[in-house]
Amino acid sequence: MHGRRELPWRNTRNLYEIYISEIMLQQTQVKTVLERFFFPFLKRFPTLQSVAEASLDDVLHAWQGLGYYRRARYIHRTAQIASPDLPSDPKELVKLPGIGKSTAHAIAVFGTQAPLAVLDANIKRVLHRFFAKEKATEKELWSLAESLLDRNEPYIYNQAMMDIGATLCLPKTTRCETCPLHSLCEGRKNPLLYPAPKSGKTKPLKRQVYLLVERESKILMRKRKGELLGGLWELPTRKTPPPSAEKLFEIGHEYTHFRRIAEIYRYDGRKEEEGEWIEREDLHEIALSSLEKKIFARLFEADTD
Ligand code: ADE
Repeated sequence: MHGRRELPWRNTRNLYEIYISEIMLQQTQVKTVLERFFFPFLKRFPTLQSVAEASLDDVLHAWQGLGYYRRARYIHRTAQIASPDLPSDPKELVKLPGIGKSTAHAIAVFGTQAPLAVLDANIKRVLHRFFAKEKATEKELWSLAESLLDRNEPYIYNQAMMDIGATLCLPKTTRCETCPLHSLCEGRKNPLLYPAPKSGKTKPLKRQVYLLVERESKILMRKRKGELLGGLWELPTRKTPPPSAEKLFEIGHEYTHFRRIAEIYRYDGRKEEEGEWIEREDLHEIALSSLEKKIFARLFEADTD
């Protein structure tokens, strides 16, 4: 018998328990979740309703040590929205905070045997190798995942794909000789070519200060000039922060030729007038770079917490 059948979230049909396991497993290894977090969390919060009735502080406390605390905030918000019970329909699940398409599918497959494919990071790697793809877009990967799915046995199929990704088809080594997909795998001669490794060159690191200047509900923005990201809107930038600015956080971002560390500061500067005042609500209507989107997502998430 192969596969990791003993995992507790595989021996339950309780949607809430499956949901908690999937959120924990999004960014944390099975071993850590299993040994230190899954059972204590369920003991403290046995139902979605118990999460809804708890304070955010209590939920964060139970999450302590797991990292990526945004997940705990999402669970708390999800409980407020969906309590007493999670929907089992993936189209409804995906509307809840912190549940992307793959997690929604995982919950629906493991909870209700829905005939859907899961596409987590491990399964993406397995698919790249199985179809000998150096590169594939998210959309291509979804259609490859769906093309392989066994619709009669979605539960077994998805668990098997997860297990192959977690135990045989690893990032830096493969155990092709024991893999059940071996004879059909297009990448088996040279599995480590797929997906193509990210360029090993370390890119130069560039730091830049970004100023958040707010006036009532408006934010000061500037339109970039020049080649790089020209025409996109950004926060006013500086090489160094003005003395009275308050540091909020840092965000990293990869460009083709360098890595940016953006240092975000709140700044009350009266002289900081150059640019345009954009209503917060209208920010989604102007063209923002990915970095600016990340910055605003972080800022607004902090606001709503
Ligand atoms: N990673 C994400 N979901 C999982 C699951 N149900 N079992 C094992 N690993 C996982």
